[in-house]
Amino acid sequence: MPAPVDALRRVSLFVGLDDDALSAIAAAANDVEVPAGQLLVQPGQAGTGMFFVVDGTAVVETKRGEVELGPGQFFGELALMRPDAIRTARVRAETPLRCLALDRASFRTLVATNPDVAAAMLEVALGRLAENAGVDDG
Ligand code: CMP
Repeated sequence: MPAPVDALRRVSLFVGLDDDALSAIAAAANDVEVPAGQLLVQPGQAGTGMFFVVDGTAVVETKRGEVELGPGQFFGELALMRPDAIRTARVRAETPLRCLALDRASFRTLVATNPDVAAAMLEVALGRLAENAGVDDG
């Protein structure tokens, strides 16, 4: 199912985007609803897409513990940032979860056409890698 624009407006990464940009993302994204407990990402697999949380809570099982992600946050970006990268963690739905899913090609288009989104996503991604590596920010 294509994603409605109002769901995209709940993603903080997209707050600065105009209606045209949001419509383009909406046309490319799939609206995904899964029950509590469902696995969305398995460590070691190739990355086929990424997810933006619209409703509910996802849990990332990192080597250093669990991280909860709620509405406006995203996951699955790390394995899309390099051609041969694999998933770094398991992600499951903690509650019934509604997400917008972008496949690899749509992710490329998103970051190529929206540099501010790409920069903000990169900042989050680097923070996650640093956290997983045990690098102290501070
Ligand atoms: P990816 O490696 O594609 O699949 C697992 C996802 O879990 C990863 O992308 C990130 O989106 C997410 N993730 C990994 N580590 C963390 C972390 N420390 N905090 C939040 N999310 C993370």
